[in-house]
Amino acid sequence: MLKLLKMADLDLKGKRVLIREDFNVPLKDGKVTSDARIIAALPSIRLALEKGARLMLMSHLGRPTEGHFEAKDSLKPIVDELKLHFDVPVRLVANYLDGVDIGENEIVVFENVRCNKGEKANNDSLAQKMAALCDIYVNDAFGTAHRAQASTHGVAKYAKTACAGPLLVNELEALTRALNHPRKPLVAIVGGSKVSTKLTVLETLSDKVDQLIVGGGIANTFMLATGLQIGKSLVEKDLVDAAKKLLQKVTQNGAEIPLPIDVVTGKAFSESTPAETKAAMQVLDDDMIFDIGPKTAEKFAKIIAKAGTIIWNGPVGVFEFEPFSKGTETVSRAIADSNAFSIAGGGDTLAAVDKYAIKNKISYISTGGGAFLEFVEGKTLPAVEILEQKAQI
Ligand code: 3PG
Ligand code: MG
Repeated sequence: MLKLLKMADLDLKGKRVLIREDFNVPLKDGKVTSDARIIAALPSIRLALEKGARLMLMSHLGRPTEGHFEAKDSLKPIVDELKLHFDVPVRLVANYLDGVDIGENEIVVFENVRCNKGEKANNDSLAQKMAALCDIYVNDAFGTAHRAQASTHGVAKYAKTACAGPLLVNELEALTRALNHPRKPLVAIVGGSKVSTKLTVLETLSDKVDQLIVGGGIANTFMLATGLQIGKSLVEKDLVDAAKKLLQKVTQNGAEIPLPIDVVTGKAFSESTPAETKAAMQVLDDDMIFDIGPKTAEKFAKIIAKAGTIIWNGPVGVFEFEPFSKGTETVSRAIADSNAFSIAGGGDTLAAVDKYAIKNKISYISTGGGAFLEFVEGKTLPAVEILEQKAQI
């Protein structure tokens, strides 16, 4: 399906192999707080070691100032995690652009690639230096595939051989399967605070889905578009027309955007604000909607139970606050219980997956946030495109 050279098909014995990872993980007090991206990268790293590669890994972490390395930018917490998973030495190297000596049976990790001047601008000479470090460049960083930067794009252009790692291949195959060949009905759940950040995703999905469940602040904008009162809830008034158009289009396609029939409200954005469950038609002027109500959650759960394919991005309420977590919990459990091919992606979504411990019940969990959304939007991911171009040479 994909016209990419794959790392799994290449002979790596004794070769200098440079893998671009997405180790951009959340940290607190110098420790990794969610290791999902690291765990997802392990099989590819193991495979490269088994194939006898002289292995180098590189990644960005956060958005540091280029040319200015600070302790907080270091990949040391990630190296500490990696050490827990490998018997071979894992070595963090700060100055690598002029070459690194490396043997088999060790892992060298380069310091934060975004501390290099020219990384974000996809600078040619930086990319050439990276390419010169290896015989084979592997991109396994799906989460960063929407960025055209020196370590994701330029390096692939100049590398002798550039290929896709197993994680990247899995991500692309799972997403393609869900979007292009879905078992019907296709149900998408798009939550989160703003329509604006997800408008293109909603538009793309509106042509494919049978049911488009919107949640969070996004649902408020749609409720307003149908004439419901939403009080002081988070909303984007300038996108009400866009929401109306989407509602029309989806209906014309014979599909549906089911809106909340009941909601849970509070008077202030706080965990301790008294929570009230009420009909969607009874929202007061000083109410803020923070979750879908139990009837709506049940209605959504029934839709999810009948799905053949589920694409999930974003919670349906402020699930970090206990009184407003039930909607997201019910939806999460419905996705977990369904027999559909289910895909989940995005930071908040993965936090919900963790909170309700349903990781093993989702068919595919994407490591991508922005990249996941851009793929669903139908955009070309530059880091994938360059690999396709290289495969044709
Ligand atoms: C992400 O976490 O979204 C990716 O690692 C990309 O990071 P970025 O948004 O800082 O480019
Ligand atoms: Mg991002």
